[in-house]
Amino acid sequence: MVSPHLIWSEEEMENDKGSEYGPLYFELNTGAKMPSVGLGTWKAPPGVVGDAVIAAVKAGYRHIDCARVYDNEKEVGVALKELFSTNVVKRSEIWITSKLWCSDHAPEDVSKALSKTLEDLQLDYVDLYLMHWPFRTKPGSRGFAPEIMAPLCLPETWSAMEGLFASGQARAIGVSNFSTKKLENLLAFAKVTPSVNQVECHPEWQQPALHNICKSTGVHLSAYSPLGSPGSWVKGETLKDSTLIEIAKKLNKSPAQVALRWGIQSGHSVLPKSVNESRIKENLSLFDWCIPQDLFSKISSIHQRRLLRGEFAVHETLSPYKSLQELWDGEI
Ligand code: A2P
Repeated sequence: MVSPHLIWSEEEMENDKGSEYGPLYFELNTGAKMPSVGLGTWKAPPGVVGDAVIAAVKAGYRHIDCARVYDNEKEVGVALKELFSTNVVKRSEIWITSKLWCSDHAPEDVSKALSKTLEDLQLDYVDLYLMHWPFRTKPGSRGFAPEIMAPLCLPETWSAMEGLFASGQARAIGVSNFSTKKLENLLAFAKVTPSVNQVECHPEWQQPALHNICKSTGVHLSAYSPLGSPGSWVKGETLKDSTLIEIAKKLNKSPAQVALRWGIQSGHSVLPKSVNESRIKENLSLFDWCIPQDLFSKISSIHQRRLLRGEFAVHETLSPYKSLQELWDGEI
């Protein structure tokens, strides 16, 4: 049986293979082992996110999901420095992901953007660097508004990402918010196959087609908002779903734990955000139990809807995507 916590040691990871309670990590197409649960930091406010990272790592997390646009990487960096200097964890024992913001898609800006992230995180490299969205905004701009959209140059941006991979500053590269079709398009010109596509995924938005293409092309699917984003403007209600609640009661677990365990058993990593110490611990207590097949298959009957629809990226004239259908290539 595996430990209920993510212990990042070779021995634990070897023993993890084939365990019914694992996996503690997913192996990427680079051969790197990415811990299957990561702490999400989107919407984790300044003054709080650092403590959340420290609490998470002390609780056993070995994977932190960051992004430049979350505006909190500096504070995450201070927390990481403290964790390293007090020997709670070594750099080599923790997985750090960050993301290229849309205003930095110009090939000459890609490397500068990662340098800024590395400076803020006080790191020499990230384990994974993702292109945050398949759209581009004007250099120096913030946010998503259509009036700051700029023409897409995905092949050039990806080529610059490949340069970061070659330099070792990003030990793996990937994308985020790519539909099946956009991922296939990227694969057609990529010299380095993306390791990860990080997308919205939870019991109310299961993405079976995307899972299939990811599996067949060796791209790992990683789930953001794995709890259905209850804390964002969409005020997701996945955790109130009656099927999830029923299963949680039967297993004596919380609906959040069932949602996360469902993700891991479906073969994808999960990135729950929390700034609350007891929920941080709850969200990692996933490795000494599993959802039996009869209950697991009930989750596939849950009504499906994309919650984070990306309306901000759509505009009839100013965006490359004139509708949500175009943004998601029909996966909406
Ligand atoms: P908090 O940070 O106060 O714990 P998602 O990762 O799907 O975007 O969800 C994040 C939201 O879910 C946050 O508002 C977070 O609040 C809340 N949350 C995190 N863990 C749990 C949990 N175990 N049970 C209920 N809500 C949770």
